[in-house]
Amino acid sequence: MIRFEGVTKRYVEASGTGGGAESVAVDDLTLEAPTGQITVLVGPSGCGKTTTLRMVNRMITPTSGTISIDGRDTASLDVAELRRGIGYVIQHAGLFPHRTVLDNVTTVPRLLGTDKRTARSRAMELIERVGLDPAMARRYPAQLSGGQQQRVGVARALAADPPVMLMDEPFSAVDPVVREQLQNEFLRLQSELGKTILFVTHDIDEAVKLGDQVAVLRVGGILAQLDSPARLLADPVDDFVAGFVGRDRGYRALSFGAALELSLADEPTVRLGATAAEVRAVGTAWVLCVGDAGEPLGWVRAAAVESEVTTRVLHRGGTVASTTGSLRALLDAALSSPSGRGVVADDDGRLVGTIRAAEVIPAIEARRDGVGATTGSGTHAQTSARPAEEATAR
Ligand SMILES: Nc1ncnc2c1ncn2[C@@H]1O[C@H](COP(=O)(O)OP(=O)(O)O)[C@@H](O)[C@H]1O
Ligand SMILES: [Mg+2]
Repeated sequence: MIRFEGVTKRYVEASGTGGGAESVAVDDLTLEAPTGQITVLVGPSGCGKTTTLRMVNRMITPTSGTISIDGRDTASLDVAELRRGIGYVIQHAGLFPHRTVLDNVTTVPRLLGTDKRTARSRAMELIERVGLDPAMARRYPAQLSGGQQQRVGVARALAADPPVMLMDEPFSAVDPVVREQLQNEFLRLQSELGKTILFVTHDIDEAVKLGDQVAVLRVGGILAQLDSPARLLADPVDDFVAGFVGRDRGYRALSFGAALELSLADEPTVRLGATAAEVRAVGTAWVLCVGDAGEPLGWVRAAAVESEVTTRVLHRGGTVASTTGSLRALLDAALSSPSGRGVVADDDGRLVGTIRAAEVIPAIEARRDGVGATTGSGTHAQTSARPAEEATAR
């Protein structure tokens, strides 16, 4: 069991205009992730999910509070020993690009002293187990699709047979069809392996599908509700959770194309190489960066740009919705965007504008109610979606 007890993480803004200001990423979190089960942390971008995960393997140190695994305070353990018992999977797999799939999977066991032959045979077994053709073992990551890379990422995390797995949006960067396959195989694998898993996503559908229990977080790192998926859907504790889990949204409505019905906001942008002064002149905390063809590249936090916008400061987490896409995709874009403004592009990938969750949710509710998209019962949905917005994020 992983136990968080009163865990808080505050960041001090290191640079820029907000010098010295503190922000709370995780606020007094108390939570138990039971052994052998999947606990999903779900919430909009910036609500502290990644910070929470990375405190478990001590890539981030909590400001206060304790995290224990099977009753042992992680702060008192040797870091190497701690991490040996924890597999870690991230969004873009994070594979070593110049190593083959097989070498990627055997790296950690080899470091831990497993002999080459044993490590390889176990790796081949895992490669098959995560649903890859054994012939892929000799390929390099760049020769694989995004979904295949994620499978390798899972195999690599499992290679040292750790009892605990931390998974940070592992399936978010692949298309919905592949995502569903990965989810299904992940559930099948977990039913055989019974790992203790902390799984992070911003996608409530994914949370409900995968979680034995689901923790809904809101911006500011506040735990809004911890429950089984069924309880969460049936009995959300407040408007935020109700809006987020979509009790009232009507899931089927989400998959119909309707993005065009909604009007988008103009989004001021900067290019790569823009100066810090140019970024701050935009006047918002998060500024969208576009490429030469007007394609969205990612967000930059104005306070974090030191001299100019480089790829290093880009936050690429958010998904991009298409003007011809579904309301579901729009909502996903808004919820995954660090600014709370979902990015919408045309079919050529050029930026068209942005939209907030508070504007998408009424359209979804209206669709469920079978009325025009512009006449939804707005008030409830807007308060529900508010924590996803920048005003509360900063
Ligand atoms: N190194 C950092 N310095 C300052 N603020 C940070 C840092 N890392 C994350 N944050 C802030 O902490 C909050 C939570 O971030 P994060 O844990 O990445 O959220 P999530 O994974 O839910 O999107 C956000 O407001 C983010 O901007
Ligand atoms: Mg994150």
